[in-house]
Amino acid sequence: MKFFIDTANLEQIREAYDLGVLDGVTTNPSLMAKEGIKGVQNQHDHYIKICEIVNGDVSAEVIATDYEGMIREGEVLAGLNPHIVVKVPCIADGIKAIKFFSEKGIRTNCTLVFSIGQALLAAKAGATYVSPFVGRLDDICEDGVGLVADIVRMYHFYDYKTQVLAASIRNTKHIVECLEAGADVATCPLSAIKGLLDHPLTDAGLKKFLEDYKKVNG
Ligand code: G3P
Repeated sequence: MKFFIDTANLEQIREAYDLGVLDGVTTNPSLMAKEGIKGVQNQHDHYIKICEIVNGDVSAEVIATDYEGMIREGEVLAGLNPHIVVKVPCIADGIKAIKFFSEKGIRTNCTLVFSIGQALLAAKAGATYVSPFVGRLDDICEDGVGLVADIVRMYHFYDYKTQVLAASIRNTKHIVECLEAGADVATCPLSAIKGLLDHPLTDAGLKKFLEDYKKVNG
């Protein structure tokens, strides 16, 4: 399973990249706003900075919600760097835009996916990635990981090539569950990635090894 980090924060992206396990980055307008990135030129510059840190796919989201606007924005975003994946919302014009981008060889991430029907349309349109939002489904008492598992099964059954990118991951347990569900990618906050390392027996074992070493070696 590939790991993407779900942030526009350059320090966190660098930290995850330095860990040596980072395969890419996803951003969205909320994450860009959180970093105070204002104005189209600054946003483009920021995407380029992210691409320069990470040797992997970087999702950059269109703001337009109409077909022509999405095409215009997506073509510019895709031209910024070969690693850019154009992120498009799962609405009717978005599906049409994904079809257009797919035929032009521009890679896409169909975002804001909350049902298997939406995932089917994304795959039929030729999306590179589909992003079911795990945490937001859990927030409303639905089964986010269950949706990931259903999409994985459906794509395998019909041999769709679209990769399942589990998004809105909130914690380490979500990552492990998405791994078990067969997601191709999990995009996660840095804290959730680092949480995979935590185990009390690792800490206790290391402490004991070092104590025993010191007993003999001083
Ligand atoms: O990848 C989508 C993600 O950024 C949404 O996460 O926590 O706002 O639901 P969240």
